[in-house]
Amino acid sequence: MQKVLSGMRPTGKLHLGHLEGVLKSYIEMQEQYQCFFMVADWHAMTTTYENPEDIHGNTIELFKDWLSVGIDPEKATLFVQSAVKAHAELFLLFSFITPVPWLERNPTYKEQKQELKDKDLSTFGFLGYPVLQAADILIYNAEKVPIGEDQRPHLELTREIARRFNFLYKTDFFKEPKEILTKFPKLPGLDNRKMSKSYNNAIYLTDDAKTVNDKTMTMYTDPLKIKKDDSGHPEGCAVYAFHKVYSGAEEQEIMARCCKGEMGCVECKKNLIVKINARLEPIRQKRAEIDKNPAVIETLIKRGNEKALVEASKIMSEVRKIMRLD
Ligand code: TRP
Repeated sequence: MQKVLSGMRPTGKLHLGHLEGVLKSYIEMQEQYQCFFMVADWHAMTTTYENPEDIHGNTIELFKDWLSVGIDPEKATLFVQSAVKAHAELFLLFSFITPVPWLERNPTYKEQKQELKDKDLSTFGFLGYPVLQAADILIYNAEKVPIGEDQRPHLELTREIARRFNFLYKTDFFKEPKEILTKFPKLPGLDNRKMSKSYNNAIYLTDDAKTVNDKTMTMYTDPLKIKKDDSGHPEGCAVYAFHKVYSGAEEQEIMARCCKGEMGCVECKKNLIVKINARLEPIRQKRAEIDKNPAVIETLIKRGNEKALVEASKIMSEVRKIMRLD
């Protein structure tokens, strides 16, 4: 079976955009591949090193989000990066062979540094972020890596590091991993920008039915449709974007009635609220079950960490041999 590795930083609770994008693809992949899904707490530290106190709680919450949507610890290995110290060892060894200009020209690095101007990110660790990511992937010799568009430069760097290692030590030990691009979810945020925690426009997996109702009622709609019988323009409407994901065959009818001025935005939103809540209800129930017995989470994390450690240790001892460090 081919191996898959992916990671998410524990930076806060997950929303519907995550659910219909990355989480959906994790759930599909766990059926077909040997999957390693990792909480990238060290990666979170590269930007939150001044306030590390949230990382532990966020890690637990991320695990709960994963389990509640159906990511299955019997099928995939779920673990925490910092519990498998070999990631750090491989990161160090890769740092010897990675030219600094490869890191400095990384577009994600430049963008993030611009975007997070309020933080001092002129650190060695932040520059080395993709080297750590390469270690995460190659320490399982994963063939496939599900990622979003913004992570593509990091995967390219991973391949370059693998190639350079193989060249320098005359081996073909590391495989060059391929990306699986997660189809970007077509779900916008409440205000029609990208759904994101930092824009405060998200519907979270943990939102209850009333919160979903209240948030959806504030959702951005076609500004030209003021009265119910004005004809609407669904293409620019956030509510319609949600109907495209959640309404199946009914989408066509909703579009037609909106355009013809037969349906107002309130009716359209009420219709959507029922569907979002139907999607979230089983997830809420699963989470409530998990919360009844929180000790289970600790046990699961421990077991996942141990499984990951076994795999990572095998690769690490091969790498030491190849580098004459054994
Ligand atoms: N950098 C990724 C992100 O921000 C998280 C991550 C860390 C990751 N290690 C990884 C993703 C390895 C894929 C593979 O989303």
